[in-house]
Amino acid sequence: MQVVRSKLELKKILSSQTNKSIGFVPTMGSLHEGHLALMKKARLENDFVVASVFVNPTQFGPNEDLDAYPRDETKDIELSENAKVDLLFIPSVEEIYPRKVSAQVKAVLAVDVLDGKARPGHFDGVLTVLLKLFMLVQPDRAYFGQKDAQQVAIVQNFVSDYFLPVDIRTVETVREADGLAKSSRNVNLLEEERNEAPVIHRALLAGKDRILSGCQSEQEILGAVQEVLQDVTLKLDYLALYSYPDFKPVTDFTKPMVLAAAVKYKKARLIDNEIVLPSGGEAECYEQ
Ligand code: PAJ
Repeated sequence: MQVVRSKLELKKILSSQTNKSIGFVPTMGSLHEGHLALMKKARLENDFVVASVFVNPTQFGPNEDLDAYPRDETKDIELSENAKVDLLFIPSVEEIYPRKVSAQVKAVLAVDVLDGKARPGHFDGVLTVLLKLFMLVQPDRAYFGQKDAQQVAIVQNFVSDYFLPVDIRTVETVREADGLAKSSRNVNLLEEERNEAPVIHRALLAGKDRILSGCQSEQEILGAVQEVLQDVTLKLDYLALYSYPDFKPVTDFTKPMVLAAAVKYKKARLIDNEIVLPSGGEAECYEQ
């Protein structure tokens, strides 16, 4: 595996990969099995796999955890190598943002809910860095986790609206044995928070069950989630049910929905979701 830090070096290596399909896994590092699942799928579907590790400052708000975001480059290199990534791109902030941009990318669809609402400007930063990375890597396919369901939907719309020649592929959420969604931020949980956190997924599953048993009342569905959470002290940032993948208020309980929650712990904010397909069918537009 080649580790590359500059755009020039990246371009040089990629230009020698003629007639090879390129799969790309963008990450912010502190890699875990969720990231590795994306790399595994990319490895299966492409001739050449590029991954990036870049803690993107533009997607963090002023009071968020940019400085506290976990970083472990040595382990990231080792895990990527084991996952048979061909090229790992680890640029500096200056390499990606050499100057103030002359035109901005602004996410406008599906950003008035969930993380878009809770983290103003977050998805602008995500799309900005992805546009830059997509232009540098020029992948045939790029891989995203369903754990960040809103991110996938926004990226999918962006790519589709601007005819970006990349196929967005998704991977289901990888979880710890106790159900907690794997996240780089989990290392910032205090011990008692880590012990409590699996309740988030259990609660979402209770809501999902309620939907699958035919309930068509949003209040009752969210109530079923709250019921599981009532004995714990965690602070919900949001808990909501939306249609999926367009993130609108639910009007038809027979169509795909997403039940999503965000929890604020002392040093980590965790998000999780469950996609619900009441008809047992596939969610429109995303393959697994
Ligand atoms: P990061 O949080 O590092 O996640 C990188 C990719 O891994 C995302 O597509 C995310 O959804 C996926 N992922 C994280 N945890 C996962 C899990 N438990 N199961 C499956 N997939 C998981 O998301 C970002 O970085 C950034 O916003 C980025 C897209 C890199 C832009 O900066």
